[in-house]
Amino acid sequence: MSPEIIFDPYTSLYSGATALVKSSEVRDLMSVIGRSDVISFAGGLPFIGGLPVEDISSAMETVISESYTDAFQYGETEGREALKSMLVEVMAEEGLRAEPEHVLVTTGSQQALDLLARVFIDPGDRMVVEGPTYIGALAAFRPANPDFLTVPLDASGMQVELLAGVLDRLGGAPPKFLYVVPNFHNPGGVTLAAERRRELLELARERDLLIIEDNPYGLLRFEGEPIEPLAAADRRRVVYVGTLSKIISPGIRTGWMLAPAPILERISKLKQGADLCSPSLSQMFAEQFIRQGLWKKNLEALRPIYRSRRDAMLAGLEEHFPDEARWTRPEGGLFIWVTLPPYLDTSKMLPLAILQKVAYVPGTAFFADSSGARHMRLNFSYADEERIAEGTKRLGKVIKREMRLCRSLGLDKPPAGPEETREETG
Ligand SMILES: Cc1ncc(COP(=O)(O)O)c(C=O)c1O
Repeated sequence: MSPEIIFDPYTSLYSGATALVKSSEVRDLMSVIGRSDVISFAGGLPFIGGLPVEDISSAMETVISESYTDAFQYGETEGREALKSMLVEVMAEEGLRAEPEHVLVTTGSQQALDLLARVFIDPGDRMVVEGPTYIGALAAFRPANPDFLTVPLDASGMQVELLAGVLDRLGGAPPKFLYVVPNFHNPGGVTLAAERRRELLELARERDLLIIEDNPYGLLRFEGEPIEPLAAADRRRVVYVGTLSKIISPGIRTGWMLAPAPILERISKLKQGADLCSPSLSQMFAEQFIRQGLWKKNLEALRPIYRSRRDAMLAGLEEHFPDEARWTRPEGGLFIWVTLPPYLDTSKMLPLAILQKVAYVPGTAFFADSSGARHMRLNFSYADEERIAEGTKRLGKVIKREMRLCRSLGLDKPPAGPEETREETG
Protein backbone atom coordinates (compact mmCIF):
# COMPACT_ATOMS: atom_id res chain seq x y z
CA MET A 1 0.00 0.00 0.00
CA SER A 2 1.15 3.49 -0.76
CA PRO A 3 2.46 5.11 2.45
CA GLU A 4 0.17 8.13 2.06
CA ILE A 5 -2.97 5.92 2.23
CA ILE A 6 -3.62 5.85 5.96
CA PHE A 7 -7.38 6.02 5.85
CA ASP A 8 -9.39 5.00 2.79
CA PRO A 9 -12.81 6.74 2.71
CA TYR A 10 -14.01 4.60 -0.23
CA THR A 11 -13.88 1.23 1.55
CA SER A 12 -17.65 0.69 1.62
CA LEU A 13 -17.83 1.10 -2.16
CA TYR A 14 -15.33 -1.55 -3.24
CA SER A 15 -16.48 -4.84 -4.74
CA GLY A 16 -15.89 -8.17 -3.00
CA ALA A 17 -13.57 -9.15 -5.86
CA THR A 18 -11.07 -6.43 -4.99
CA ALA A 19 -10.74 -7.82 -1.47
CA LEU A 20 -9.58 -11.10 -3.02
CA VAL A 21 -6.76 -9.45 -4.92
CA LYS A 22 -3.56 -9.64 -2.96
CA SER A 23 -0.98 -6.98 -3.46
CA SER A 24 1.85 -8.45 -5.52
CA GLU A 25 5.01 -8.93 -3.49
CA VAL A 26 7.00 -8.12 -6.59
CA ARG A 27 5.17 -4.87 -7.18
CA ASP A 28 5.47 -3.81 -3.56
CA LEU A 29 9.22 -4.19 -3.81
CA MET A 30 9.68 -2.66 -7.23
CA SER A 31 10.38 0.82 -5.89
CA VAL A 32 13.32 -0.48 -3.87
CA ILE A 33 14.67 -3.06 -6.26
CA GLY A 34 14.53 -0.64 -9.16
CA ARG A 35 17.43 1.24 -7.56
CA SER A 36 20.64 0.75 -9.50
CA ASP A 37 22.63 -0.24 -6.40
CA VAL A 38 20.32 -3.20 -5.78
CA ILE A 39 21.05 -6.29 -7.86
CA SER A 40 17.61 -7.53 -8.68
CA PHE A 41 16.81 -11.14 -9.45
CA ALA A 42 13.22 -10.31 -8.59
CA GLY A 43 11.45 -9.03 -11.70
CA GLY A 44 10.56 -11.11 -14.72
CA LEU A 45 12.01 -8.61 -17.14
CA PRO A 46 13.32 -9.96 -20.43
CA PHE A 47 16.55 -8.50 -21.83
CA ILE A 48 15.60 -5.89 -24.41
CA GLY A 49 19.00 -4.21 -24.68
CA GLY A 50 19.78 -6.20 -27.82
CA LEU A 51 16.64 -5.31 -29.76
CA PRO A 52 17.58 -4.12 -33.27
CA VAL A 53 16.71 -0.45 -32.90
CA GLU A 54 17.29 0.47 -36.54
CA ASP A 55 15.13 -2.38 -37.77
CA ILE A 56 12.45 -1.37 -35.30
CA SER A 57 12.52 2.21 -36.57
CA SER A 58 12.21 1.03 -40.13
CA ALA A 59 9.34 -1.35 -39.27
CA MET A 60 7.58 1.52 -37.47
CA GLU A 61 8.18 3.80 -40.42
CA THR A 62 6.64 1.25 -42.77
CA VAL A 63 3.57 1.02 -40.52
CA ILE A 64 3.15 4.77 -40.38
CA SER A 65 3.93 5.58 -43.98
CA GLU A 66 1.81 2.76 -45.42
CA SER A 67 -1.18 2.71 -43.10
CA TYR A 68 -1.16 5.34 -40.40
CA THR A 69 -4.94 5.73 -40.56
CA ASP A 70 -5.31 2.11 -39.44
CA ALA A 71 -2.46 2.30 -36.94
CA PHE A 72 -4.05 5.21 -35.09
CA GLN A 73 -7.63 3.93 -35.34
CA TYR A 74 -9.67 1.40 -33.35
CA GLY A 75 -9.48 -2.10 -34.78
CA GLU A 76 -11.27 -5.45 -34.67
CA THR A 77 -11.88 -6.81 -31.16
CA GLU A 78 -10.45 -10.20 -32.18
CA GLY A 79 -7.29 -8.61 -33.56
CA ARG A 80 -5.98 -7.75 -37.02
CA GLU A 81 -6.20 -10.51 -39.62
CA ALA A 82 -2.66 -9.89 -40.89
CA LEU A 83 -1.20 -10.25 -37.40
CA LYS A 84 -3.16 -13.45 -36.74
CA SER A 85 -1.56 -15.00 -39.84
CA MET A 86 1.86 -14.03 -38.49
CA LEU A 87 1.05 -15.53 -35.08
CA VAL A 88 0.14 -18.76 -36.84
CA GLU A 89 3.71 -18.77 -38.17
CA VAL A 90 5.11 -18.18 -34.69
CA MET A 91 3.14 -21.15 -33.34
CA ALA A 92 4.24 -23.33 -36.26
CA GLU A 93 7.82 -22.78 -35.13
CA GLU A 94 6.99 -24.97 -32.11
CA GLY A 95 5.08 -27.54 -34.13
CA LEU A 96 1.63 -26.14 -33.41
CA ARG A 97 -0.46 -25.90 -36.60
CA ALA A 98 -3.33 -23.45 -36.33
CA GLU A 99 -5.72 -21.36 -38.41
CA PRO A 100 -5.96 -17.57 -38.09
CA GLU A 101 -9.72 -17.76 -37.44
CA HIS A 102 -9.05 -19.58 -34.17
CA VAL A 103 -6.67 -16.91 -32.93
CA LEU A 104 -7.78 -13.95 -30.82
CA VAL A 105 -5.27 -11.19 -30.15
CA THR A 106 -5.10 -9.95 -26.56
CA THR A 107 -3.44 -7.06 -24.77
CA GLY A 108 -0.57 -9.15 -23.44
CA SER A 109 -1.20 -12.79 -22.59
CA GLN A 110 -2.10 -11.51 -19.13
CA GLN A 111 -5.39 -10.30 -20.59
CA ALA A 112 -6.02 -13.77 -22.00
CA LEU A 113 -5.71 -15.23 -18.48
CA ASP A 114 -8.01 -12.58 -17.05
CA LEU A 115 -10.66 -13.16 -19.74
CA LEU A 116 -10.45 -16.94 -19.41
CA ALA A 117 -11.06 -16.71 -15.68
CA ARG A 118 -14.04 -14.47 -16.27
CA VAL A 119 -15.48 -16.71 -18.98
CA PHE A 120 -15.19 -19.94 -16.99
CA ILE A 121 -15.11 -19.29 -13.26
CA ASP A 122 -17.97 -18.57 -10.90
CA PRO A 123 -17.20 -18.11 -7.19
CA GLY A 124 -16.41 -21.48 -5.61
CA ASP A 125 -15.67 -23.24 -8.91
CA ARG A 126 -12.65 -25.46 -8.83
CA MET A 127 -9.58 -24.98 -10.95
CA VAL A 128 -6.30 -26.86 -10.97
CA VAL A 129 -3.00 -24.98 -10.83
CA GLU A 130 0.58 -26.08 -10.40
CA GLY A 131 2.38 -25.55 -7.11
CA PRO A 132 4.20 -23.23 -7.59
CA THR A 133 2.40 -21.35 -10.35
CA TYR A 134 2.72 -18.05 -12.21
CA ILE A 135 2.04 -15.17 -9.82
CA GLY A 136 0.16 -13.21 -12.50
CA ALA A 137 -2.15 -16.16 -13.16
CA LEU A 138 -3.08 -16.22 -9.48
CA ALA A 139 -3.71 -12.47 -9.70
CA ALA A 140 -5.92 -12.96 -12.78
CA PHE A 141 -7.84 -15.90 -11.31
CA ARG A 142 -8.31 -14.73 -7.72
CA PRO A 143 -10.98 -12.06 -8.34
CA ALA A 144 -13.22 -14.84 -9.74
CA ASN A 145 -12.93 -16.47 -6.28
CA PRO A 146 -12.20 -20.05 -7.35
CA ASP A 147 -11.34 -22.99 -5.16
CA PHE A 148 -7.73 -23.73 -6.15
CA LEU A 149 -6.53 -27.33 -6.32
CA THR A 150 -2.76 -27.56 -6.44
CA VAL A 151 -0.66 -30.23 -8.13
CA PRO A 152 3.05 -30.07 -7.24
CA LEU A 153 5.92 -29.72 -9.68
CA ASP A 154 9.12 -31.70 -9.75
CA ALA A 155 12.10 -31.56 -12.11
CA SER A 156 9.89 -32.87 -14.97
CA GLY A 157 7.09 -30.36 -14.49
CA MET A 158 3.61 -30.96 -13.11
CA GLN A 159 3.41 -34.33 -11.34
CA VAL A 160 0.65 -35.62 -13.53
CA GLU A 161 0.49 -38.94 -11.66
CA LEU A 162 -0.73 -37.01 -8.61
CA LEU A 163 -3.42 -35.21 -10.59
CA ALA A 164 -5.64 -38.29 -10.85
CA GLY A 165 -5.53 -38.61 -7.05
CA VAL A 166 -6.43 -34.95 -6.60
CA LEU A 167 -9.40 -35.39 -8.95
CA ASP A 168 -10.43 -38.69 -7.32
CA ARG A 169 -10.62 -37.11 -3.89
CA LEU A 170 -13.05 -34.49 -5.13
CA GLY A 171 -16.70 -34.86 -4.38
CA GLY A 172 -19.08 -32.69 -6.35
CA ALA A 173 -18.31 -30.66 -9.43
CA PRO A 174 -15.15 -31.30 -11.46
CA PRO A 175 -12.65 -28.46 -12.01
CA LYS A 176 -13.52 -25.93 -14.70
CA PHE A 177 -9.98 -26.01 -16.04
CA LEU A 178 -6.38 -26.87 -15.38
CA TYR A 179 -3.75 -24.17 -15.85
CA VAL A 180 -0.26 -25.25 -16.83
CA VAL A 181 2.99 -23.52 -17.89
CA PRO A 182 4.72 -26.38 -19.70
CA ASN A 183 8.01 -24.80 -20.80
CA PHE A 184 10.68 -23.25 -18.56
CA HIS A 185 8.12 -22.70 -15.91
CA ASN A 186 7.66 -19.38 -14.18
CA PRO A 187 8.74 -19.62 -11.40
CA GLY A 188 9.88 -23.29 -11.42
CA GLY A 189 12.25 -23.18 -14.40
CA VAL A 190 11.26 -26.80 -15.21
CA THR A 191 9.69 -28.26 -18.36
CA LEU A 192 6.83 -30.71 -18.56
CA ALA A 193 8.31 -33.94 -19.95
CA ALA A 194 6.92 -35.33 -23.23
CA GLU A 195 5.64 -38.48 -21.53
CA ARG A 196 3.84 -36.42 -18.90
CA ARG A 197 2.25 -34.30 -21.64
CA ARG A 198 0.80 -37.47 -23.15
CA GLU A 199 -0.44 -38.64 -19.75
CA LEU A 200 -1.97 -35.25 -19.01
CA LEU A 201 -3.88 -35.22 -22.29
CA GLU A 202 -5.05 -38.77 -21.73
CA LEU A 203 -6.30 -37.89 -18.27
CA ALA A 204 -7.95 -34.74 -19.62
CA ARG A 205 -9.83 -36.84 -22.17
CA GLU A 206 -10.84 -39.41 -19.56
CA ARG A 207 -12.01 -36.79 -17.07
CA ASP A 208 -13.37 -34.26 -19.56
CA LEU A 209 -10.95 -31.59 -18.42
CA LEU A 210 -10.15 -28.34 -20.22
CA ILE A 211 -6.47 -27.33 -20.18
CA ILE A 212 -5.14 -23.78 -20.38
CA GLU A 213 -1.61 -24.05 -21.78
CA ASP A 214 0.35 -20.85 -21.14
CA ASN A 215 3.52 -20.83 -23.19
CA PRO A 216 5.47 -17.56 -23.10
CA TYR A 217 8.89 -19.19 -22.96
CA GLY A 218 8.84 -22.22 -25.31
CA LEU A 219 10.86 -20.48 -28.02
CA LEU A 220 13.49 -19.36 -25.52
CA ARG A 221 15.08 -22.81 -25.41
CA PHE A 222 18.87 -22.56 -25.40
CA GLU A 223 19.58 -26.22 -24.62
CA GLY A 224 17.98 -29.63 -25.23
CA GLU A 225 15.27 -30.73 -27.62
CA PRO A 226 11.99 -28.84 -28.10
CA ILE A 227 8.81 -30.62 -27.01
CA GLU A 228 5.56 -30.03 -28.86
CA PRO A 229 2.89 -27.96 -27.15
CA LEU A 230 -0.08 -29.80 -25.66
CA ALA A 231 -2.33 -27.97 -28.11
CA ALA A 232 -0.50 -29.59 -31.03
CA ALA A 233 -1.96 -32.94 -29.93
CA ASP A 234 -5.42 -31.85 -28.88
CA ARG A 235 -7.02 -28.60 -29.98
CA ARG A 236 -10.42 -29.45 -28.51
CA ARG A 237 -9.20 -29.87 -24.94
CA VAL A 238 -6.53 -27.19 -24.89
CA VAL A 239 -6.77 -23.42 -24.95
CA TYR A 240 -3.33 -22.19 -25.90
CA VAL A 241 -2.05 -18.81 -24.70
CA GLY A 242 0.94 -17.12 -26.34
CA THR A 243 2.74 -13.79 -26.17
CA LEU A 244 5.30 -11.67 -28.00
CA SER A 245 6.51 -10.21 -24.69
CA LYS A 246 9.48 -12.51 -24.26
CA ILE A 247 10.42 -12.99 -27.90
CA ILE A 248 10.03 -9.36 -29.04
CA SER A 249 9.07 -6.93 -26.27
CA PRO A 250 6.66 -6.76 -23.33
CA GLY A 251 6.15 -3.05 -24.07
CA ILE A 252 4.06 -3.78 -27.16
CA ARG A 253 1.57 -5.72 -24.97
CA THR A 254 0.70 -8.23 -27.66
CA GLY A 255 -0.46 -11.70 -26.76
CA TRP A 256 -3.01 -14.13 -28.11
CA MET A 257 -5.20 -17.11 -27.48
CA LEU A 258 -5.80 -20.11 -29.72
CA ALA A 259 -9.10 -21.71 -28.79
CA PRO A 260 -12.15 -23.53 -30.13
CA ALA A 261 -14.64 -21.20 -31.86
CA PRO A 262 -17.38 -21.22 -29.17
CA ILE A 263 -14.90 -20.20 -26.49
CA LEU A 264 -13.48 -17.43 -28.68
CA GLU A 265 -16.94 -16.04 -29.23
CA ARG A 266 -17.53 -15.67 -25.49
CA ILE A 267 -14.07 -14.26 -24.93
CA SER A 268 -14.55 -11.74 -27.70
CA LYS A 269 -17.73 -10.38 -26.09
CA LEU A 270 -15.95 -9.94 -22.78
CA LYS A 271 -12.96 -8.33 -24.45
CA GLN A 272 -15.22 -5.69 -25.96
CA GLY A 273 -16.10 -4.64 -22.44
CA ALA A 274 -12.49 -4.81 -21.32
CA ASP A 275 -10.71 -2.73 -23.98
CA LEU A 276 -12.72 -2.75 -27.25
CA CYS A 277 -9.58 -3.91 -29.07
CA SER A 278 -5.86 -4.33 -28.51
CA PRO A 279 -3.66 -1.43 -29.69
CA SER A 280 -3.61 -1.26 -33.50
CA LEU A 281 -0.16 0.35 -33.60
CA SER A 282 1.42 -2.48 -31.60
CA GLN A 283 -0.29 -5.11 -33.70
CA MET A 284 0.87 -3.55 -36.96
CA PHE A 285 4.42 -3.18 -35.68
CA ALA A 286 4.45 -6.80 -34.53
CA GLU A 287 3.12 -7.90 -37.90
CA GLN A 288 6.00 -6.13 -39.68
CA PHE A 289 8.58 -7.43 -37.21
CA ILE A 290 7.46 -11.00 -37.81
CA ARG A 291 6.85 -10.66 -41.55
CA GLN A 292 10.39 -9.32 -42.07
CA GLY A 293 11.87 -12.25 -40.12
CA LEU A 294 13.26 -9.91 -37.46
CA TRP A 295 11.71 -11.94 -34.65
CA LYS A 296 13.79 -14.97 -35.56
CA LYS A 297 16.98 -12.93 -35.63
CA ASN A 298 16.07 -11.50 -32.26
CA LEU A 299 15.46 -14.96 -30.83
CA GLU A 300 18.78 -16.20 -32.16
CA ALA A 301 20.49 -13.25 -30.48
CA LEU A 302 18.65 -13.78 -27.17
CA ARG A 303 19.32 -17.49 -26.70
CA PRO A 304 23.10 -17.35 -26.18
CA ILE A 305 22.72 -14.33 -23.89
CA TYR A 306 20.21 -16.15 -21.69
CA ARG A 307 22.27 -19.30 -21.72
CA SER A 308 25.36 -17.44 -20.58
CA ARG A 309 23.41 -15.66 -17.83
CA ARG A 310 21.85 -18.94 -16.70
CA ASP A 311 25.34 -20.45 -16.55
CA ALA A 312 26.62 -17.50 -14.54
CA MET A 313 23.77 -17.93 -12.09
CA LEU A 314 24.25 -21.69 -11.76
CA ALA A 315 27.96 -21.12 -11.14
CA GLY A 316 27.19 -18.45 -8.53
CA LEU A 317 24.72 -20.71 -6.75
CA GLU A 318 27.20 -23.58 -6.75
CA GLU A 319 29.92 -21.39 -5.33
CA HIS A 320 28.06 -19.29 -2.79
CA PHE A 321 24.89 -21.06 -1.68
CA PRO A 322 24.93 -23.51 1.25
CA ASP A 323 25.22 -27.24 0.59
CA GLU A 324 21.67 -27.76 1.83
CA ALA A 325 20.21 -25.58 -0.97
CA ARG A 326 18.87 -27.08 -4.20
CA TRP A 327 17.82 -25.42 -7.43
CA THR A 328 16.41 -26.19 -10.82
CA ARG A 329 18.50 -26.18 -13.99
CA PRO A 330 16.37 -24.60 -16.72
CA GLU A 331 17.09 -25.31 -20.39
CA GLY A 332 15.48 -22.03 -21.41
CA GLY A 333 13.34 -19.19 -20.16
CA LEU A 334 14.12 -16.70 -17.44
CA PHE A 335 13.96 -18.31 -14.00
CA ILE A 336 15.66 -20.59 -11.49
CA TRP A 337 13.73 -21.91 -8.50
CA VAL A 338 15.67 -22.37 -5.31
CA THR A 339 14.73 -24.64 -2.41
CA LEU A 340 16.29 -23.84 0.97
CA PRO A 341 16.20 -25.77 4.25
CA PRO A 342 12.61 -26.02 5.52
CA TYR A 343 13.19 -23.83 8.56
CA LEU A 344 14.04 -20.77 6.45
CA ASP A 345 11.37 -18.26 5.50
CA THR A 346 12.36 -16.33 2.38
CA SER A 347 9.70 -13.64 2.97
CA LYS A 348 11.19 -12.82 6.36
CA MET A 349 14.69 -12.96 4.90
CA LEU A 350 13.94 -10.55 2.05
CA PRO A 351 14.48 -7.26 3.96
CA LEU A 352 17.91 -8.61 5.03
CA ALA A 353 18.73 -9.37 1.41
CA ILE A 354 17.63 -5.92 0.31
CA LEU A 355 19.86 -4.39 3.01
CA GLN A 356 22.69 -6.28 1.31
CA LYS A 357 21.43 -4.85 -2.00
CA VAL A 358 20.18 -8.00 -3.64
CA ALA A 359 16.55 -8.99 -4.30
CA TYR A 360 14.48 -12.04 -5.21
CA VAL A 361 10.83 -13.06 -5.02
CA PRO A 362 9.85 -15.18 -1.98
CA GLY A 363 8.26 -18.54 -2.76
CA THR A 364 4.95 -17.83 -1.00
CA ALA A 365 3.96 -15.49 -3.83
CA PHE A 366 3.63 -18.46 -6.18
CA PHE A 367 1.34 -20.77 -4.20
CA ALA A 368 -2.41 -20.42 -4.18
CA ASP A 369 -2.39 -21.22 -0.44
CA SER A 370 0.67 -19.02 0.31
CA SER A 371 2.80 -22.00 1.30
CA GLY A 372 6.32 -22.33 -0.14
CA ALA A 373 8.18 -20.16 2.39
CA ARG A 374 11.43 -22.10 1.91
CA HIS A 375 11.65 -21.23 -1.80
CA MET A 376 12.74 -18.24 -3.85
CA ARG A 377 12.54 -17.35 -7.52
CA LEU A 378 15.63 -15.94 -9.18
CA ASN A 379 15.53 -14.24 -12.57
CA PHE A 380 18.64 -14.57 -14.71
CA SER A 381 17.61 -12.66 -17.86
CA TYR A 382 17.91 -9.11 -16.60
CA ALA A 383 21.22 -8.69 -14.76
CA ASP A 384 24.45 -9.31 -16.70
CA GLU A 385 26.97 -11.99 -15.76
CA GLU A 386 29.03 -9.72 -13.52
CA ARG A 387 26.05 -8.59 -11.51
CA ILE A 388 24.76 -12.16 -11.34
CA ALA A 389 28.09 -13.27 -9.85
CA GLU A 390 28.05 -10.46 -7.29
CA GLY A 391 24.33 -10.89 -6.53
CA THR A 392 24.57 -14.63 -5.86
CA LYS A 393 27.56 -13.95 -3.60
CA ARG A 394 25.58 -11.40 -1.57
CA LEU A 395 22.55 -13.66 -1.42
CA GLY A 396 24.59 -16.70 -0.41
CA LYS A 397 25.98 -14.73 2.54
CA VAL A 398 22.51 -13.63 3.64
CA ILE A 399 21.21 -17.22 3.52
CA LYS A 400 24.18 -18.65 5.39
CA ARG A 401 23.91 -15.98 8.07
CA GLU A 402 20.20 -16.69 8.46
CA MET A 403 20.89 -20.43 8.74
CA ARG A 404 23.48 -19.83 11.45
CA LEU A 405 21.03 -17.65 13.35
CA CYS A 406 18.25 -20.23 13.12
CA ARG A 407 20.59 -22.99 14.26
CA SER A 408 21.85 -20.98 17.20
CA LEU A 409 18.25 -20.36 18.29
CA GLY A 410 17.28 -23.99 17.76
CA LEU A 411 14.85 -23.04 15.00
CA ASP A 412 16.31 -25.42 12.46
CA LYS A 413 13.76 -28.17 12.97
CA PRO A 414 11.51 -28.67 9.93
CA PRO A 415 7.95 -27.58 10.72
CA ALA A 416 5.60 -30.54 10.93
CA GLY A 417 2.93 -30.17 8.28
CA PRO A 418 1.83 -30.97 4.80
CA GLU A 419 4.19 -28.60 2.99
CA GLU A 420 7.02 -31.11 2.64
CA THR A 421 4.93 -33.54 0.67
CA ARG A 422 3.17 -30.83 -1.27
CA GLU A 423 6.04 -29.12 -2.96
CA GLU A 424 9.15 -30.92 -3.93
CA THR A 425 10.52 -29.06 -6.88
CA GLY A 426 13.69 -30.10 -8.57
C1 LIG B 1 3.72 -17.73 -17.39
C2 LIG B 1 3.38 -16.34 -17.82
N1 LIG B 1 2.19 -16.12 -18.41
C3 LIG B 1 1.83 -14.90 -18.80
C4 LIG B 1 2.66 -13.81 -18.63
C5 LIG B 1 2.17 -12.45 -19.04
O1 LIG B 1 2.90 -11.92 -20.08
P1 LIG B 1 2.38 -10.78 -21.03
O2 LIG B 1 1.10 -10.23 -20.48
O3 LIG B 1 3.46 -9.76 -21.06
O4 LIG B 1 2.15 -11.42 -22.36
C6 LIG B 1 3.91 -13.98 -18.03
C7 LIG B 1 4.80 -12.84 -17.78
O5 LIG B 1 5.81 -12.91 -17.16
C8 LIG B 1 4.28 -15.29 -17.61
O6 LIG B 1 5.45 -15.56 -17.03
